[in-house]
Amino acid sequence: MEQSYESISWQDDHLVILDQTQLPLREIYSEVHTIGQVWDAIKKLKVRGAPAIGIAGAYGLYLGVRELDSKNFTSFNVELNRWIEYLKTSRPTAVNLSWALDRISQTVYANKDKELDEIKEIILETAKTIHDEDKRVCKKIGHNGAELVKKGSHILTHCNTGGLATGAFGTAFSVIWHANDSGKDIHVWVDETRPLLQGARLTTWELQNAEIPFHLIPDSAAGSLMQSGKVDLIIVGADRVTANGDTANKIGTYPLAVLAKENEIPFYVALPVSTFDLSTEKGDDIEIEERDPEEVTFLAKTQITPKKTDAYNPAFDVTPHEYITGFITENGLIEPDFKKNIKALFD
Ligand code: MRU
Repeated sequence: MEQSYESISWQDDHLVILDQTQLPLREIYSEVHTIGQVWDAIKKLKVRGAPAIGIAGAYGLYLGVRELDSKNFTSFNVELNRWIEYLKTSRPTAVNLSWALDRISQTVYANKDKELDEIKEIILETAKTIHDEDKRVCKKIGHNGAELVKKGSHILTHCNTGGLATGAFGTAFSVIWHANDSGKDIHVWVDETRPLLQGARLTTWELQNAEIPFHLIPDSAAGSLMQSGKVDLIIVGADRVTANGDTANKIGTYPLAVLAKENEIPFYVALPVSTFDLSTEKGDDIEIEERDPEEVTFLAKTQITPKKTDAYNPAFDVTPHEYITGFITENGLIEPDFKKNIKALFD
């Protein structure tokens, strides 16, 4: 069985994204023609999830540079780096965005003696490669993770980590998808994931499409379900994992990990190797995106608080590595000692 939708696709000379702010009520595919529109789509979460924003950013960079009429490589490279820094300002926490943009920058430099038109085409080809690689990597993550899932497991997940958040299939969601596909008879507990409800709006939509049994739960119910033996394992995605294994993911992940340890429930993080950030030593060093307070005080455009209520809205939290059972990657399962074993992935 294949996925019936693509969160991002390149068509002729532009990008098409499935607008995730409109799901699940409306399936709207929007055309994106400029780098500014890509920046806006990432900022507003029309395209979201760490690998997906890396892919969109890569195409966005091409949309920016194709307009340049630089006379030589030096001035082209200055403009390229300006666009890279601009795209990076859209969302700071997920490392996949800067990973994809820096990869393109290195590829450009390696081809600096070519004609500028040829370099522009190389940028587009690199964006397509990043996109295709992610689809293959996500499948592998799913296969590797499904081996850890016992028959009849109740799996709890947080936020959205599916095909919407990646090139295809997802990370944690790919594990769930492949476990279900191999007849493991699983059931999923879906955290609604306040404030933007990626679980309630997007993960449920993807589970329904894939005909995987699930129940949606309020975020605040997760601890009690663990305590009463209703959760066999937890699998989440990641936005950035530092050299020691500390993991930034959607706000609300850290309390799940702490309660999993308390209740002796395995807690796995599924991610592509590109989400590891060896240049950042530990979780305290990760920049956490703070979003508009109105995402908390409003629900579907209706204010749910007294007027002038101030809110604090961090988009991610950091789970210290000691709460993590293992990392499920395309290269297999990474277990403690995380610092040593994560480094080995890059040796
Ligand atoms: O703010 P979002 O919706 O982009 O947050 C997404 C997450 O936290 C995901 O868990 C993470 O990016 C992994 S997606 C495969």
